[in-house]
Amino acid sequence: MDTLLLNSKIKDDIKTAAEILQGGGLVALPTETVYGLGANALDENAVQNIFKAKGRPQDNPLIIHIGRLEDFGKYGVVNPLALKLAEAFWPGPLTLIVEKKPVIPSVVSAGLNSVGVRMPSHPVAMELINTADIPIAAPSANTSGKPSPTRACHVMEDMDGKIDAVLDGGDCQIGVESTVVDTLSGKAAILRPGAVTIDMISSVLGEDKVLRTAKTSVLKNEAPKAPGMKYRHYAPKAIVHLICGSPNESCEYIKSRVQNDDGVLCFSEFLNEFTCKTIDFGKSYDKKAHAHVLFSAFRDFDNECVKRIFVQCPREYGEDIATVNRLKKSSEGNVYSIKSKDIIGIVGRSGSGKTHVSRSLSKNSMLINADELYSQMLTQDCDMTKELSLLCPSALKDGKIQRQLLSLAVFKSPLLLKDINRITHHYIVDEILRKVQTSKQQTIYIDAPTLFESGLHLYCTKLIGVVSSESSCIERIMLRDGITLERAKKRLAQQLSNDFFIEFCDEIIYN
Ligand code: TXA
Ligand code: MG
Repeated sequence: MDTLLLNSKIKDDIKTAAEILQGGGLVALPTETVYGLGANALDENAVQNIFKAKGRPQDNPLIIHIGRLEDFGKYGVVNPLALKLAEAFWPGPLTLIVEKKPVIPSVVSAGLNSVGVRMPSHPVAMELINTADIPIAAPSANTSGKPSPTRACHVMEDMDGKIDAVLDGGDCQIGVESTVVDTLSGKAAILRPGAVTIDMISSVLGEDKVLRTAKTSVLKNEAPKAPGMKYRHYAPKAIVHLICGSPNESCEYIKSRVQNDDGVLCFSEFLNEFTCKTIDFGKSYDKKAHAHVLFSAFRDFDNECVKRIFVQCPREYGEDIATVNRLKKSSEGNVYSIKSKDIIGIVGRSGSGKTHVSRSLSKNSMLINADELYSQMLTQDCDMTKELSLLCPSALKDGKIQRQLLSLAVFKSPLLLKDINRITHHYIVDEILRKVQTSKQQTIYIDAPTLFESGLHLYCTKLIGVVSSESSCIERIMLRDGITLERAKKRLAQQLSNDFFIEFCDEIIYN
């Protein structure tokens, strides 16, 4: 069979794709998560062909894709919990398992009396579903067991000659498959993590309606809740080695073992550390980038014929839970936890109450306050103060650097800040690491206003952001430091935003 490559930007091509689906054919379509391999969900024969093309085990059910919320009730029994989640997250990367209506052939649900339904948000998927005006059964459009496709060319690698058409809609934005939530028990149980996180679900349903302990993988002989859990998944040809620890630890570990014919899926901060083939996994804290890059990186490494892929494992929070879930499955047990200590970085804007939060969180552990450490170091005659005196002589009084004079100098010529930071960050990070290494404590909290700018985040196993409104921050710093409104505002303007912390920290404390 010749597989047509259709272009979603051409109106007629979407019409062609819709007609193929209506006629019982198979079309791969873009969604916001990954490409799906679609067929008319009401056509038993067409659905059978999906299993054949993918080489998918018959006992692994498919999910169906709908174009309107009103259609949910046609194919599934919409319980109140499912309705609440659908209203909150559709269209979007969430699949809801509900009781199946008889119109859906049992081949779709692999004989189960439940069915997975999702309304994708990708405009091309929506347009195709609504043009064809049928529910579309679609698993990910890869050969069973291989990494899911996030580009039309990935689909072609696996499906050329096996399906009628691929509708090219560009790169999938999210990059990992939807969150699968079982709603049958009256509580939400996550069977597969995705971009809709458990915390997002809990904020809609309330904590008492969420099963936090739901398992997303099963042992070999166990009967799985989602049949897909038991199969080898997402795996490239190369052997995946997953290295878990702080970003710096995983980099050091990989550097000591990697060979020339290996590949490294590596955080942006470390791209220059390796001489073998590397692929940029995005910044160590950029959860969206990790999901977006993962599967296409696996395919790129396979095309380069690397033997092993070493992966710097992201910290397992928020959307990274989904990425790490896929990584664990694709690495089939080659998971190395090399974390030596729990190092928790606490960050936030001036006046956010970060120090207060740090003190209460670290009650039974060690706390390093980077700002206090800096003040102490300024009083000493050391390399840092020598460099600062050369850079900024106006900050010297009685042969010592005065912190207020240093801030005044920066206030007068803001360009100085960059050079001062370059010097101070380097020495403070070194000193903090020395303290961490010599400490006997297992858990160490670091209260550091410039955690990201200084690179300290690379040594942390968890990042907590403390967020407070602009007006409370301003009020607190004016009161605490006795400065004017203008200076308080100017200081905050030089710092990272609350939105940055909300997007990139692992946990947020609103204060
Ligand atoms: O993002 C996605 O969900 C993509 C795009 C194409 O929509 N689709 C996708 O489908 O990932 P698939 O078939 O690769 O994964 C669906 C998962 C499987 O793990 C399957 O076992 C589970 O959902 N599933 C489907 N129906 C189920 C049911 N009735 N009960 C429990 N699990 C179910
Ligand atoms: Mg799949």
